[in-house]
Amino acid sequence: MQPREPSRTARGAAGHRAAHQIVERGAIFRDEFARRILSEEDLAAADSRAAGPAGKALRFFIAARGRFAEDALAGAVASGTRQAVVLGAGFDTFALRNPYPDLTVFEVDHPATQAWKRERLAAETIALPDTLRFVAMDFERENLAERLAANGFASDAPAFFLWLGVVPYLTRAAIFAVLRFVAAQKDNQIVFDYGEPLHARPILARLRALAFAARVAALGEPFLTFFTPATLHPELRALGFDEIEDLDVASIAARYFPQSRVRPGSGGGHLIRARAG
Ligand SMILES: C[S@@+](CC[C@H](N)C(=O)[O-])C[C@H]1O[C@@H](n2cnc3c(N)ncnc32)[C@H](O)[C@@H]1O
Repeated sequence: MQPREPSRTARGAAGHRAAHQIVERGAIFRDEFARRILSEEDLAAADSRAAGPAGKALRFFIAARGRFAEDALAGAVASGTRQAVVLGAGFDTFALRNPYPDLTVFEVDHPATQAWKRERLAAETIALPDTLRFVAMDFERENLAERLAANGFASDAPAFFLWLGVVPYLTRAAIFAVLRFVAAQKDNQIVFDYGEPLHARPILARLRALAFAARVAALGEPFLTFFTPATLHPELRALGFDEIEDLDVASIAARYFPQSRVRPGSGGGHLIRARAG
């Protein structure tokens, strides 16, 4: 990210969720705030992009990752978890839609992006739920444990972490600092998405991924970190995650849109859920 500028990719991801509410009528991921939270200009850009076939794969991936995360969160809440942490929240609206009256939601994001989101919420006079806490921090420079503790997070009680569309933009050191913190508390769970390195993807997927990587780099938010399941899973187990669910592109498509021939994302995207033992 540019140090003082709000994330541009956060607007892009939110645009895909907004378009999904219209084009697929929220079939994979329903979000009644997805359109309201965007400015008219961003909505118009998202809708015109969605009119063509180009953005469909990414739109499906972004819808599927929200659904995967919130379904897993529902399971955690049913088992007693009372804290959710949305890491790199961007224009994610779960905190506004939170259906669990005793679930506290911590929205962690880069200060510039969070300030911008708060301006949008105020401009739309969207009421902030009492269960929402904002935590501004830079994952590359600050400590998640300290920032959460300063905002009322109980690190001795289980929490569910949603980390969508963020990991590829961070350094390995920042990623593992967060994962180490999450792994330290039994029954903590985290859902995140990651991309496989380009050389691990089939040739057509590699070309699509190269084009996508060039677009985000041009926005000042280059991809910094890739993983393969073969190396990531042992690293997660070494940290203390003893339950790992990892969906590749084919499994995501089979689970969330079996009738469609669309392959989500640019070909090497994964959704992962890990639970600390
Ligand atoms: C592609 S957006 C995803 C936003 C949201 N999770 C979603 O799925 O729509 C990336 C998010 O990561 C955040 N981010 C990127 N680098 C960060 C950093 N070093 N510290 C804190 N947040 C960061 C950005 O502010 C932005 O909100």
